[in-house]
Amino acid sequence: MSRGERDGRRVGVVLVAAGDGVRLGAGCPKALIEIAGRSLLSHALAGLAAADLPPPVVVHPVGSAGDFSAASAGLPVAAFVAGGVTRTGSVRAGVTALDTGVEVVAIHDAARPLTPPQVMRAAVDAVRGDVLAAAPARPVADTLKRVDQDEILATVDRTALVGVQTPQVFVRWVLDAALAQPGDATDDLALVEGLVAQRKAEGRMVTVTGSLLGHKVTYPEDLALVRAIAEGRM
Ligand code: CTP
Ligand code: MG
Repeated sequence: MSRGERDGRRVGVVLVAAGDGVRLGAGCPKALIEIAGRSLLSHALAGLAAADLPPPVVVHPVGSAGDFSAASAGLPVAAFVAGGVTRTGSVRAGVTALDTGVEVVAIHDAARPLTPPQVMRAAVDAVRGDVLAAAPARPVADTLKRVDQDEILATVDRTALVGVQTPQVFVRWVLDAALAQPGDATDDLALVEGLVAQRKAEGRMVTVTGSLLGHKVTYPEDLALVRAIAEGRM
């Protein structure tokens, strides 16, 4: 069975790339920055294709359709749509552009150019039975401290904490219900968690094994790290 279907359900993919990249400070859309000879956008699209997932809806900054289309040349894309001011606004725009027949939705960050295809597949494959949502996760390795500016107040118990990555994958009706609510979140799962807590959706949300390669480009040092990995220097 192709990854375009999961458990007999059609899969759709949204690749969000409409952020301003303020923390990176590159002066251009983050997804268009090149590492190892091609854009972060191109790396992410190639990963989705290698995972045998359907062509994604690419959500780009307003006014950047031409640049994003050029940066995607030769790679499968279902559609280009302009994003919103917030990440959730961009997700809403992308999900709205999916075919109505799509029943499982994977949302991936273009800012994670090196996410291994097997991690993408694992997240999609996990959404079956009573699982409403799934995301790759990694244990928190560093000791966590609660602080006030630079003053250390206490150690936080990390045994029940993980860091989550993308793609985050959802049963579509649950995601649609979450996105229909007002408000924004930096993480799509956070929107669905509210529905599950209120018992408006019955089911489980699960993690799958993430990867260091799923690292998100946020700050200049993140870009240096993924560039070194992509160029085989690490
Ligand atoms: N994103 C988006 N639309 C927004 C904001 C974010 O599509 N309005 C996307 C980004 O393009 C990125 C992903 O969401 O692929 C994760 O967001 P983040 O790392 O915060 O990227 P930026 O918002 O671009 O960066 P910053 O917050 O530093 O401006
Ligand atoms: Mg942001």
